[in-house]
Amino acid sequence: ELGRQLQLREVGGILLQAATVDNWSEIQNFEAKPDDLLICTYPKSGTTWIQEIVDMIEQNGDVAKCQRAIIQHRHPFIEWARPPQPSGVEKANTMPSPWTLRTHLPTQLLPPSFWENNCKFLYVARNAKDCMVSYYHFQRMNQVLPDPGTWEAYFETFISGKVGWGSWFDHVKGWWEIKDRYQVLFLFYEDMKRVSKGPSEEPLQTQDPKCEIQKVVQFMGKSLDETVLDKIVQETSFEKMKENPMTNRSTVPKFILDQSISPFMRKGTVGDWKNHFTVTQNERFDEIYRQKMEGISINFCMEL
Ligand code: PPS
Repeated sequence: ELGRQLQLREVGGILLQAATVDNWSEIQNFEAKPDDLLICTYPKSGTTWIQEIVDMIEQNGDVAKCQRAIIQHRHPFIEWARPPQPSGVEKANTMPSPWTLRTHLPTQLLPPSFWENNCKFLYVARNAKDCMVSYYHFQRMNQVLPDPGTWEAYFETFISGKVGWGSWFDHVKGWWEIKDRYQVLFLFYEDMKRVSKGPSEEPLQTQDPKCEIQKVVQFMGKSLDETVLDKIVQETSFEKMKENPMTNRSTVPKFILDQSISPFMRKGTVGDWKNHFTVTQNERFDEIYRQKMEGISINFCMEL
């Protein structure tokens, strides 16, 4: 039954989990409120990381408060559906608003109330090659998503967008294109890792995501002391979050996430694609990237 609910089905040309598609009208009718904050990502782009950062900011750096629940339960996932458990929409509706929510939906599938209420959108993008690698290992360990097959096969699946939540290219492009018309803070995983300061600049040597965290603080209309910011940097490091049972998915049963195949907190680095892509795959990917992202002024430091 679980397997059936979680197989992928199309809605508007995008593959989503079948139970989400079954629940589509509830999701589309979701009533966001004007002060809501929506964390938006393509899968495997740093969702869990930015969630923990946002929660630490909301709790003014109080670690104990962030331990109140596992990360999946702190910010309702609006398209989540796994009957008989309450859906993401139902979970949100039982919580006091304003809400901090999360989604992997592309812009065209977002419930219209988010646009109508001019909500705040916090988008995190991660370079496509590392996303592909992370998604591949996630599908290997996630027992309720399709088996990715070989790396070569998955490469084709990913570039054709036949994965859950659709094409990386369309997703990033869609959110990038609306960013100046709505309240969008557009962040990059690579900037959060501080390996690079952005597409055109030289890589930095330090690893300090404080500058990106500071942008989130401002976007959320808060102000925090330097000591609290430093604490957030420390507590949201990959190493800390890998050990933290509230963020590392260790409470999810093995028949859903088999972490002996690949841990959820796998590597948390920039550039792991170099350990997976062949030279030919890389050249082909770069060409596809150029075609699909034409006219979009983000380059994602593909050489990282
Ligand atoms: S999901 O399933 O879509 O919600 O996954 P998501 O959280 O978006 O992405 C998982 C990848 O993010 C890495 N990660 C981190 N990197 C750096 N720092 C921190 N704190 C952090 N937390 C999670 C995680 O390891 C996955 O990337 P890979 O490359 O597979 O390691």
